[in-house]
Amino acid sequence: MSLKVKCPICGYKCTKTEYAKHLESYHVEDYQRIVDEINKDIKNGMSIKDVAQKNSLTERFVKGVLGYRTLVKEEMTNYNVSKAKTEIWEPEDFSLETTTVWGFPDRGDWATHSGKYRGNWSPYIPRNVILRYSNENDVVLDQFVGSGTTLVEAKLLGRRGLGVDINPDAVKLALSNVNFEHKCGLADVHIGDARNLDFVKDSSIDLICTHPPYSNIIKYSDNIEGDLSHYDIPEFLKEMYKVASESYRVLKRGRFCAVLMGDTRRKGNIIPLGFRVMEVFCKAGLTLKEIVIKEQHNCTSTGYWKKQSIKYNFLLIAHEYLFIFKK
Ligand SMILES: C[S@@+](CC[C@H](N)C(=O)[O-])C[C@H]1O[C@@H](n2cnc3c(N)ncnc32)[C@H](O)[C@@H]1O
Repeated sequence: MSLKVKCPICGYKCTKTEYAKHLESYHVEDYQRIVDEINKDIKNGMSIKDVAQKNSLTERFVKGVLGYRTLVKEEMTNYNVSKAKTEIWEPEDFSLETTTVWGFPDRGDWATHSGKYRGNWSPYIPRNVILRYSNENDVVLDQFVGSGTTLVEAKLLGRRGLGVDINPDAVKLALSNVNFEHKCGLADVHIGDARNLDFVKDSSIDLICTHPPYSNIIKYSDNIEGDLSHYDIPEFLKEMYKVASESYRVLKRGRFCAVLMGDTRRKGNIIPLGFRVMEVFCKAGLTLKEIVIKEQHNCTSTGYWKKQSIKYNFLLIAHEYLFIFKK
């Protein structure tokens, strides 16, 4: 599959394999350090050639990093999203959740958050997870980043967010949503596959906070190869084992991985997809620390399903699970 946008490393259109190779040797922390150094040198008036020489890099690499800035600028134009103008950067009267039942009837619209990306999660979820399970400057990974809700929170809370999504449109949207300067951690977004994060080093991530598709309940693309929202439950669970194994590999020992997952109903009977996914993560080596029941509010399909539930006598699903695992 070739990428439809420029590779943020080399600055040119490249295949997925080339892209993975370009990233291979750069630990996320090293990469950010190099990017900062290049930007500083360019600002001080150095030429691309001199910057490359000084930092023992190729000119192509330096151009790639500078091209990355252009890419972000291009996305802003395409999406017609200007830099965040909001004055509201934090939720009002926020307090950390203290029990195993969470509900956010007002889903939260501070900073660049909005409910526009179908199936996105309330920013209160990553906010709670990030505050409870990470420290400032920690690297927070969301490998199903969607519109970037987790990264916006990571950035606001002074963490270094790393986002991955298989859909270039989601990546563009996430890039535009993290385009603000306030207090500020960092946010880095890549096109990639959660089943193979080979550009992320072993044991390099401080926290995983992620929200995969719920099998094929909501489809996130028409036909992107590897989009897990096209897999029915048995295949979905097999693929999620790869995601869980990658999560285990990249996470530091003693650190946490939070995964939101919901159930579904087939022929009137409940399918406990949440627990199936929980089992998959345990099988991959992670230890289950908490199960949080997340109440669902504002489901757009409530009207139709309400009628069906009366007609066929079943209960409407009104919760999801947030599983917290530890390595
Ligand atoms: C539930 S949405 C995430 C929404 C996100 N929490 C937000 O607030 O915007 C799931 C995302 O997983 C992405 N996805 C599906 N298969 C993927 C894969 N194999 N690797 C990475 N991302 C994938 C979809 O494109 C979609 O954006």
